[in-house]
Amino acid sequence: MNINLPLQTQRLILRDFTKSDWQGVHSYACDPEVVRYEPFGPNSEEDTKSFLQRQIKLQRQQPREHFGLAVTLKDNKQFIGSCSISITNQDQREASIGYDFAKEFWGQGYATEAARKLLHFGFQQLNLHRIFATSDPKNILSMRILVKIGMRQEGYLREYEWVKGEWRDRLLYAILEREWIQMQIRNVE
Ligand SMILES: CC(C)(COP(=O)(O)OP(=O)(O)OC[C@H]1O[C@@H](n2cnc3c(N)ncnc32)[C@H](O)[C@@H]1OP(=O)(O)O)[C@@H](O)C(=O)NCCC(=O)NCCS
Repeated sequence: MNINLPLQTQRLILRDFTKSDWQGVHSYACDPEVVRYEPFGPNSEEDTKSFLQRQIKLQRQQPREHFGLAVTLKDNKQFIGSCSISITNQDQREASIGYDFAKEFWGQGYATEAARKLLHFGFQQLNLHRIFATSDPKNILSMRILVKIGMRQEGYLREYEWVKGEWRDRLLYAILEREWIQMQIRNVE
């Protein structure tokens, strides 16, 4: 596998985390509204430090299966959020994606731009067959992104996770390599 990071989009850079991203990550991870539908948080400073340590350790994995990436603005290098793609089944060439952005950067299309790039990275560089994501059924903003990047809803996972003292449902979305290729062809035409 020949991995080329960082990734670039029109407005963003998606790069490996460094220790100095601590404040950037903490600024969203301690925000109750941002982590509302996430299994983690709101983070203490210790939680954020151990998250970053884990992410940095995983960068050395061979072969690498988890790509937790800092999202920064191309213009001024401002940290705005995180996204990830994780191989869940190497043999079946399957991975999942996720993202979290600081609230002040919502509503500007950054998350959609980053998520699109994760699909590109997954299909082009990681040679995946299928990429999926799950979302809390109440997380309208996240589900909108998944549809915009071409994923289809595949299922409703009832009481799938025990999170923050309650069972939570998840909606399952996915896109196949051939569907992604068709989308690229349509966009060029
Ligand atoms: C989920 C989350 C990333 C969505 O953020 P978001 O800001 O709504 O998503 P985007 O950055 O893609 O922005 C989309 C909106 O920006 C608007 N926008 C403004 N300028 C834009 C531009 N240049 N390009 C595209 N969209 C633009 C769009 O109109 C779009 O709104 P719409 O969907 O109503 O059309 C964010 O709410 C978040 O971090 N939530 C907490 C963490 C979380 O729940 N993660 C998901 C776990 S499954």
